[in-house]
Amino acid sequence: MAQITTANKKNLVLISGRAHPQLAESVAKELGCSLTETDARTFANGEIYARYGESVRGCDAFVIQAHSHPINEWLMEQLIMVDALKRASAKRITVVAPFYPYARQDKKGRGREPISARLIADMFKAAGADRIMSVDLHAAQIQGFFDGPVDHLFAMPVLLEHFQEKLNLDEVTVVSPDMGRVRVADIWSDKLGAPLAIIHKRRDPLVPNQVSVHEIVGDVKDRVCVLVDDLIDTGRTIQKAAEALKKNGAKGVVVAATHAVFSDPAVEVLQSDAIDEVVVTDTLPLPEEKKWDRLTVLSIAPLLARAIREVFDDGSVTSMFDGQA
Ligand code: R5P
Repeated sequence: MAQITTANKKNLVLISGRAHPQLAESVAKELGCSLTETDARTFANGEIYARYGESVRGCDAFVIQAHSHPINEWLMEQLIMVDALKRASAKRITVVAPFYPYARQDKKGRGREPISARLIADMFKAAGADRIMSVDLHAAQIQGFFDGPVDHLFAMPVLLEHFQEKLNLDEVTVVSPDMGRVRVADIWSDKLGAPLAIIHKRRDPLVPNQVSVHEIVGDVKDRVCVLVDDLIDTGRTIQKAAEALKKNGAKGVVVAATHAVFSDPAVEVLQSDAIDEVVVTDTLPLPEEKKWDRLTVLSIAPLLARAIREVFDDGSVTSMFDGQA
């Protein structure tokens, strides 16, 4: 009987959108590979085009894109890149979206609203994505929106290490800036061996980006408060929380957030005297003019690279966070 041999060796291909090439380059460096040459452009009428400079047939492709402003453009670019891979016979395509676009539109808060986070998952699927990799989803249930595997990574180990090295943990209280972050803040409090406080935040559904603090549950007097959030957009949530903590006698306020969206007026309000330090990761690009002396940006690249390696090798992403998150 003739023996059939197949050339079934997988080939890892790493592709970068144009939103945050530095992050993709850092991931490539961690993995010890190079980014696939990609010709991506925008035509005069705003349409986007992408083509790969080498064969991607049979490859295991990872398309990294940061969903920063202009988010719709970068989303479309990633969809087009996935489509190009599918039509060029890539074997498996993973959308790497460290900051999942439209994640905050994850449910119908009121009648006649969209569930845009679900729509995004459907769009990735329709384009040809087999799996999604993301960091600190605004709501873990978003994983269920995509019909396929979702690798949900946590930035907590990266952020935790920074605070473990810098703070006297005996005086720390972990603070959740709203009800949505309590579960994550609770894990932080376990990891730091510190008590937990919770802020009752209110938003006016008819006035976007306006925030008010109703009360603080827990003791923050003379404590160094570590405010943890998944993202900072306009900075209002953190600003109001920090001011309320200081008013209630907090000795210091430091902030840990994964995604630095930093829409206006974030950079201005985060430099408030009520905030001693803001620590974020580089899931989104941060231009120099959006940095200041009390901002620390930690790299998420090693975490992404490790997860990509685990997926490629059919290893375990969960094991990366065993006992951590
Ligand atoms: C809310 O649920 C989120 O976790 C963030 O706290 C919020 O979206 C941050 O927005 P902003 O910085 O505009 O207050």
